[in-house]
Amino acid sequence: MSNILKQQPRCGQKLSGTYLATFLLTILCGASIAQGSQANLPSSPSELDRQFALKVFPLLKEKCFACHGDDAEKIKSELNLTTREGMLKGGEYSTEVLVPGDTDKSDLYHSVTWKKPDLEMPPKENDRLTEDQITLLSDWINTGAEWPDETIQKAIREEQWTAPANEDGILVKTSGGQADTWTYRRYQPEDIWAYQPVIKPELPITDQTDKHPVDAFIDSKRNSKGFGKAPEAADRILIRRIYFDLIGLPPTPTEFKHWSSRFNDSSDKAIETGALVDELMASTHYGERWAQHWLDVTRYADTGGCLMTTNVRMRGGIGIMSFDHSTKTSLTISSL
Ligand code: HEC
Repeated sequence: MSNILKQQPRCGQKLSGTYLATFLLTILCGASIAQGSQANLPSSPSELDRQFALKVFPLLKEKCFACHGDDAEKIKSELNLTTREGMLKGGEYSTEVLVPGDTDKSDLYHSVTWKKPDLEMPPKENDRLTEDQITLLSDWINTGAEWPDETIQKAIREEQWTAPANEDGILVKTSGGQADTWTYRRYQPEDIWAYQPVIKPELPITDQTDKHPVDAFIDSKRNSKGFGKAPEAADRILIRRIYFDLIGLPPTPTEFKHWSSRFNDSSDKAIETGALVDELMASTHYGERWAQHWLDVTRYADTGGCLMTTNVRMRGGIGIMSFDHSTKTSLTISSL
């Protein structure tokens, strides 16, 4: 045994099963589908109000406020774009930054089209507005440049944020982010299928219904894409696949011989396949394989080692946690 392995750990090498359970539960159940709450809108806001609060204002905020209003000390060209009054007042050179109802007269519009020489906003090429964003601003000016007051805007945004589902995706309830954009982040349902409530779908009818129900789903999807069935794997391939799948390593020659003779003898290969899967899942290597997977998912990396000593470094930079599946009580950390 190497000296490294003989070293006594300074921080616990054994972590309790409760820790593991909490760790996994945090990953698996940390989020659940939010139950929407209805925000209290002062009065029913118009479509134009919504458009402003949800699209126009956030666009101006993202693209313009840094130089035109967020910091009063560093305001550029004396133009404050954070209020309607500021826009109407204009800047150092132009008094026609915003002319409600008239895009052609509004320098706000000209500045983002980059068609007027010396008035190209935002100044950085990379920040330029897309066609859709330019249309959004010109529509807003042409329809009268509505600017609902702060409480209405806030209510509209809150209503939009807390709606369980809308065109931007579904809301997932979390303990909250550092900013509203994270707290109210939306997801496409298919991207977070693992957090959806479990449902029992109806079995598709295929010629595989006599097999495992999972085969029926795979079959129906494959048929719908016009693919034929792959040939059944030979014993040799099947055994190697199961090993790689479950413990990430190939079988040793002895293990391989053992299982291929069992596969050969048996009248029911499915039973032997099940036995091999059970055996591998009961082995500690199965725990190691999954611990490695979850550590990768959480971007775990460890250079100095959990032991925090200078002479004990975890080779490869990753400590592998192995969960002892036979006792399901301890979690050990070993160095690679
Ligand atoms: C990185 C800083 C910066 C950002 C971001 C920026 N501007 Fe400007 N803006 C300026 C500067 C500097 C001027 C002064 C003229 C010049 O140097 O081109 C100016 C001038 C203007 C003027 C002319 C004002 C006047 O009368 O003097 C308008 C209109 C304008 N900006 C609109 C916008 C709009 C609309 C946005 C967002 C889409 C925006 N700006 C984003 C820096 C910025």
